[in-house]
Amino acid sequence: MPSQPHGGALINRIVESASLPQKSISNDIELDQIAVSDLELIANGAYSPLTGFLKKEDYLTVVHDMRLSNGLPWSIPITLPVDEKKANELQEGSLASLSKNGEVYGWIEIEEIYEAHKEAEAHHVYQTTDLEHPGVNKLFERPDYYVGGPVYLVQRPKRNHSEVYYLDPAETRKEFKELGWNKIVGFQTRNPVHRAHEHIQKTALETVDGLFLNPLVGETKSDDVPSEVRLKSYHVLLDHYYPKDRVFLSVFNAAMRYAGPREAVFHALVRKNFGCTHFIVGRDHAGVGDYYGTYDAQEIFSNFTEDELGITPLFFEHSFYCHTCKAMVSSKTCPHDKSQHVILSGTKVREMLRNGENPPETFSRPEVAGILIQGLQRVTT
Ligand code: ADX
Repeated sequence: MPSQPHGGALINRIVESASLPQKSISNDIELDQIAVSDLELIANGAYSPLTGFLKKEDYLTVVHDMRLSNGLPWSIPITLPVDEKKANELQEGSLASLSKNGEVYGWIEIEEIYEAHKEAEAHHVYQTTDLEHPGVNKLFERPDYYVGGPVYLVQRPKRNHSEVYYLDPAETRKEFKELGWNKIVGFQTRNPVHRAHEHIQKTALETVDGLFLNPLVGETKSDDVPSEVRLKSYHVLLDHYYPKDRVFLSVFNAAMRYAGPREAVFHALVRKNFGCTHFIVGRDHAGVGDYYGTYDAQEIFSNFTEDELGITPLFFEHSFYCHTCKAMVSSKTCPHDKSQHVILSGTKVREMLRNGENPPETFSRPEVAGILIQGLQRVTT
């Protein structure tokens, strides 16, 4: 049986305009790209049990205690920022449309308007207030007031990729059921699948029924590999190296926060909503630079019982190729000296690919590297 949604039921806030509350629309809130994706993910149940953007009480308990005010684990504040002028215009108790570039995507029943506690949010969620951190930078760049209340989605956001990749949690659950999978491991990624990713996915697959490859395709920082290039690379890998009936690919259309440990918990809860029973957390999950320790994103899970999480995290050591073992290994399985290990930083690999250079086969399969070189050169020229 796939896992129960977080909080017990999948939220569905997708409506036809005709079934909207009979209040008149008093105002409009312009969304940024992060808010557009969050709106859809609230509405389609990926963020269950959230029914809207966080109100102040939930915001504060999420920031400080990694829980909603009802005690359920929740580690990333999902908020709707507006500037001071808009905050003064909006009326609590009224209904506002949610739009971007003149297109209305949804509606919010405004229950609260409150000032963000950005220093505390940065400090607790990102563990730093350094503006060099891309998530913190984004937090401070967004406006200073938050609007809380339940939302409705009336139009799907514009897609950057084929519609076939965008499945709601109810749909992935149905797919898993049809595939006959009971134990499903979710894999979050914002990168191409390199040998280390493949190794941990396949190691996990040995003990579960299926792998849910769920790459994040929302907003990422500019030097991450663009999602259209990544999607091509996933296909070439799946076509040649994965059994077709053991992997299911669809996208996670959220923005990347780079919040490391906090985001790992969030990523796990969302994949539970998509129907996963297990979730892979490797080294420096959702990390950036040197802000988090290699295994902080694993240790954070000890703040919760398995019962309240409702999804089993599968932790993996940093894995790499060893020339003496002639295999993918980790410090848990390989006794050899560092000189035998192929370890390349993400920055180094991206630089090689952009220069048209193949990373070693022991790092990335040539078919994958080929797609990345082609794609990245097209993107940068
Ligand atoms: S992330 O920001 O989405 O976490 P990435 O796509 O690189 O970045 O990682 C996807 C998953 O693979 C994460 O759980 C991460 O911890 C794990 N991972 C990435 N590289 C390695 C590695 N060399 N060894 C072990 N786990 C890894």
